[in-house]
Amino acid sequence: MLIAGNWKMFKGPGEAESFLSAFEPPEGVEVVLCPPYVSLAAAVASGQTVYAQNVHWEASGAYTGEISPGMLAEIGVQGALVGHSERRQLFGESDETVARRARTALEAGLGVIACVGETLEQRESGDTELVLKIQVEAIAFVAGDHERLVIAYEPVWAIGTGKTATPDLAAEAHGFIKSVLDRPVLYGGSVKPENAAELLSQPGVDGALVGGASLEPDSFAAICRAAASSS
Ligand code: PGA
Repeated sequence: MLIAGNWKMFKGPGEAESFLSAFEPPEGVEVVLCPPYVSLAAAVASGQTVYAQNVHWEASGAYTGEISPGMLAEIGVQGALVGHSERRQLFGESDETVARRARTALEAGLGVIACVGETLEQRESGDTELVLKIQVEAIAFVAGDHERLVIAYEPVWAIGTGKTATPDLAAEAHGFIKSVLDRPVLYGGSVKPENAAELLSQPGVDGALVGGASLEPDSFAAICRAAASSS
């Protein structure tokens, strides 16, 4: 089981250090923290496994505002998220740029958590599997079944909304994604201590990508404990 905490644009270095001094993950679960860039070094210093929230596909160059895989590796960051729905929806990320980010990060030896998921409109019009297939195939096309690649299924309508996919619905989507690409699949979207155990016990659910509930050491540790006892 892998539990990743995506802090989004929360926690500068000072708040990251406070979190890390209070956070005690249990044994028996792989934990990844994804702080904002400016807090990566503080998080690495804590000894936790740290991923960035994004990564560029070139080693260096005129790409204002971007960070390369080598730069992340140099400070001890072990991987990156790519294709989070906020990147796709708010910052123009496409299947092609997500795939390029994933490929070069993997080639540079980083781990990658690549996010996919349908919007409410796509689900309601019956396009969920089509959307997931397109998104996952774009990643699979360039990255194959690389051993450091993990997919995160995050239905966009469940992110930060308090709405969670029902366990059955999550299991169905995870099974579909695995039929397209045989890699571990994390569930994401309003995972909390109260619903973690049930979601994590579904077939095909290999962990969770947690946003809001990863910001407090106690709630994030509770989700990690739920994972440890269901693995
Ligand atoms: P949430 O976010 O847990 O706050 O819904 C999940 C995510 O965006 O990765």
